[in-house]
Amino acid sequence: MIIANWKANGGFTSNIAWHKELTQIFSNDEFLDIGIAPSHIHFTQIQKIFEDSNLEVGLQDIDFSGGARTGSISASMASDAGCTFSLLGHSERRHLFNEDDALIKTKIKAALSNGIKPILCIGESEECLKARKTRDFLKNQLISALSGIELIDKVVIAYEPIWAIGTGNTPTPKDINSIHEFIKDVVQSSSANNIEPKVIYGGSVSHENAEGFFGEINIDGALIGGASLKANSFADIVKIYRKVKRK
Ligand code: PGA
Repeated sequence: MIIANWKANGGFTSNIAWHKELTQIFSNDEFLDIGIAPSHIHFTQIQKIFEDSNLEVGLQDIDFSGGARTGSISASMASDAGCTFSLLGHSERRHLFNEDDALIKTKIKAALSNGIKPILCIGESEECLKARKTRDFLKNQLISALSGIELIDKVVIAYEPIWAIGTGNTPTPKDINSIHEFIKDVVQSSSANNIEPKVIYGGSVSHENAEGFFGEINIDGALIGGASLKANSFADIVKIYRKVKRK
């Protein structure tokens, strides 16, 4: 799966231009396996302008509960609005909004019980990488978020090393492949029902490096920030994904 993570970007006028450009490249039935996570405020607009296509529209975060939680969007509200997936535990949410593994676990449960596919984001810092503790760190993030939960086979893990996000630096495709294999093993052995998840990679994915990533067997797609903001560069990555994965 290829997912555009727009973060706090986009605008009602520029979104229409983005849609126009993309639909000049792809027809409405060519969005299978493609998702976009716009801001909450643009969710309904994006859903509406893509309503005739098979593009999935999701959110960048949801809350685990509703009611007296000013500023929140609950999982049941998101589901009611037609949200099909949500990013959860993105490193920017963890660091800027102090989200911890226990909170992220409650959000995963809320997503699953409301029919929303969770895209759990995990990834190590540069210090952790240098200390050669990446695998231990990722394992701990996965177990804290998923242990004891009955997963659906649509659950997706996004491996996003913090040091690769928005920096232009990335691990090598081979290194990512081996980490993804590790993630699949850990999830399979720690979830309640032994599901092997899809694992997508995020962190400075561009049309220049995407081919190398998608050529690896355990890299099942990408979560794309900066390069998703321009319709043509996002479309180029989607084309490479289709070509390499024959989808
Ligand atoms: P980037 O962001 O593609 O701009 O590195 C990825 C992400 O944060 O999901």
